[in-house]
Amino acid sequence: MGFRIGLIHGDGIGPEIVTEAKKVLDAVSCVYGHTFDYTNLLLGGASIDACGVPLTDETVAEAKSCDAVLMGSIGGDAKTSPWYQLPPEKRPEAGLLRIRKELGLFANLRPAYLYEELKDACPLKPEIIADGFDLVIMRELTGGLYFGERKTVVEDGVRKAVDTLTYNEKEIRRIAVRAFDIARKRRKKVTSVDKANVLDSSRLWRAVVEEVAKDYPDVTLEHMLVDNCAMQLVRDPAQFDVILTENMFGDILSDEASMVTGSIGMLSSASLNETSFGLYEPSHGSAPDIAGKNLANPIATVLSAAMMLRYSLNLDAEADAVEQAVKRVLEKGYRTVDIMSEGCTQVSTTQMGDLLAEEVKAGH
Ligand code: IPM
Ligand code: MG
Repeated sequence: MGFRIGLIHGDGIGPEIVTEAKKVLDAVSCVYGHTFDYTNLLLGGASIDACGVPLTDETVAEAKSCDAVLMGSIGGDAKTSPWYQLPPEKRPEAGLLRIRKELGLFANLRPAYLYEELKDACPLKPEIIADGFDLVIMRELTGGLYFGERKTVVEDGVRKAVDTLTYNEKEIRRIAVRAFDIARKRRKKVTSVDKANVLDSSRLWRAVVEEVAKDYPDVTLEHMLVDNCAMQLVRDPAQFDVILTENMFGDILSDEASMVTGSIGMLSSASLNETSFGLYEPSHGSAPDIAGKNLANPIATVLSAAMMLRYSLNLDAEADAVEQAVKRVLEKGYRTVDIMSEGCTQVSTTQMGDLLAEEVKAGH
């Protein structure tokens, strides 16, 4: 089959890891006889350099015409990069927030999974992770504090800043439905995370999630306050299956969950809208300190490409093949520097891409 895929190489290590993910996709197209037609799109710092803004209307239109978009990472070093001398709405991150909003990508899936081979990298005590863990955070991505009204004013000579946290029931319902749908295909448990002991938006969140749960009698629902959840993630991550939460809480908890795996270079993500379209990106940042050194771990981007095959292109067998290739390369002891441990073979970004592409071909 033929598909149109947008590629956002991005900033920092972005171009290197996207190149390797494309190598793996090319192996998939070769083995399974698909045609992937790639369109390069600019976002973030690369777009600022080329067009003066972090996202252009043309990029939005091009992205909309694709079946899915695969992205590296965007942004630079906030201390040294000239991009951060610009006003906030012109910085790289503003482009990311706008593309999420323009494409209606309200459902952000962030899996955090402990690889057996990488257990040593996990910062938790061995007894806590004895049985491993496998959870996914379903983060609301186009509402809440990120997109509420904000302003900074001076009142009676005193500076004051305001951010607003707004959710309506429709926004809550559609993300809750996504979380329950995913839970149904997994271990059938949703933990809805809020701050209902303080916030009105959380009290509405809880009420709407309860309503949605009625349609999923086979899925267990529990509510958890966000501060407790932050604690439970390091105390007993195996208790979680699907964590459903609003934008800001999801931002914070997903970084925590990724750190708990000990291998942030392995974690993928998907941002989905009402259709099958999605934007796929690694959970990690652009790591400008190692950019261009052939050191970055491309696996998170490769696994994001696997999510793209599964969720947007409906190619389950192909997605499985990519995920299996990652497992086999790890089993054979190949590691990029960030996940290197004794007795393993250290490889570069490009070598890892070659190994993964070869495995996809060999596994068929
Ligand atoms: C993320 C990032 C973004 C966010 C930043 C770069 C705006 O931290 O995708 O988690 O806060 O959503
Ligand atoms: Mg974040």
